[in-house]
Amino acid sequence: MITSKLPNVGTTIFTRMSQLAMETGALNLSQGFPDFDGPQALRDAVGRHIAAGHNQYSPMTGLPALREQVATKIQRCYGRAVSADSEITITPGATQAIFCAIQALIRAGDEVIVFDPCYDSYEPAVELAGGRCVHVPLGQPDFAIDWQRLNDALSPKTRLIILNSPHNPSGALISRTELDRLATLIRDRDIYLVSDEVYEHLVFDGAQHASVVAHEELYQRAFVVSSFGKTYHVTGWKTGYVVAPAALSAELRKVHQYVSFCGVTPLQWALADFMAEHPEHVEQLPAFYQAKRDLFCDLLGDSRFCFTRAAGTFFQLADYSAIRDDLEDVAMSEWLTREHGVATIPVSVFYQQAPKDLRLVRFCFAKREETLRQAAEKLCAI
Ligand SMILES: Cc1ncc(COP(=O)(O)O)c(C=O)c1O
Repeated sequence: MITSKLPNVGTTIFTRMSQLAMETGALNLSQGFPDFDGPQALRDAVGRHIAAGHNQYSPMTGLPALREQVATKIQRCYGRAVSADSEITITPGATQAIFCAIQALIRAGDEVIVFDPCYDSYEPAVELAGGRCVHVPLGQPDFAIDWQRLNDALSPKTRLIILNSPHNPSGALISRTELDRLATLIRDRDIYLVSDEVYEHLVFDGAQHASVVAHEELYQRAFVVSSFGKTYHVTGWKTGYVVAPAALSAELRKVHQYVSFCGVTPLQWALADFMAEHPEHVEQLPAFYQAKRDLFCDLLGDSRFCFTRAAGTFFQLADYSAIRDDLEDVAMSEWLTREHGVATIPVSVFYQQAPKDLRLVRFCFAKREETLRQAAEKLCAI
């Protein structure tokens, strides 16, 4: 009988809720992916590159043309000149980039601080490396860093802090001032950062994303991760990248080289072409998703759900205590799917220990207008 290295890992709630949505025919506002396609020109480019014979391994660090495009974008958006050769690595998805960064850094006995609620891939990656996650709950109701708790959680064993802004599931943003405060806190300690910025271009109401790439001091000890899947509406392409100073990138690449070696070649060619031809795509994303957020929230205004509009990401949290205060959120999500035809994600699954009175579900609004209208109609009828 095999002894599991990850005894606490089962089928994730994302798979379960998407399956339940399929079985019941519910509208799927659970897992975070669009129900519309990426840009036609981007999809056409893949076919073109496959036909042109771009079907063999790309360089281990990623296609040079794509790394150049990422460097150009970083300069444009965050004002930092990074080396496409030594600081940017293309990976098969942001999740793999995070995994490689963690394996490159963490040794047995190291502690990694994660902020709850947090994305579910962090902890198994830390455990496989022999480390231990120390869970620091974000403050309520705004999901901001609780500095006292963070301070209390630091120990001589702390080797890494994982940040995620814009934040899944809450949509909260870390500000530049908070990054400054973090820099002061860890200045004299041997602590690194993984900054999960896969929703970097999804920030609303005129806010600016405070990227760790743009923070001179923090960047020196950071792996900054993003996802082409989120930015170009092609989550199934599982293509992402990590930006880190040369010495950190070199260590990450040692792992990446033996986890996958490289990303999918024709996808990288297509992304490089599209980024060169359509730099405006990322500029237009905030307005594109803000319109979806606002449509969904305006329509939900007639429901008994309570919410504050998400500041970023394509997720909207909603408090359902006025509807079914008797149900915990996992049961509520199942009830909403089975009885009311809308699949959601319960927020407690993002916690090691969720607050007892948590009555929040997460809706994904990366959906066509028609889907959002149908979902809101069902939710308003409850
Ligand atoms: C916070 C966060 N990080 C990483 C990822 C994964 O990105 P990718 O699909 O590129 O691996 C997701 C996807 O849902 C996410 O929400």
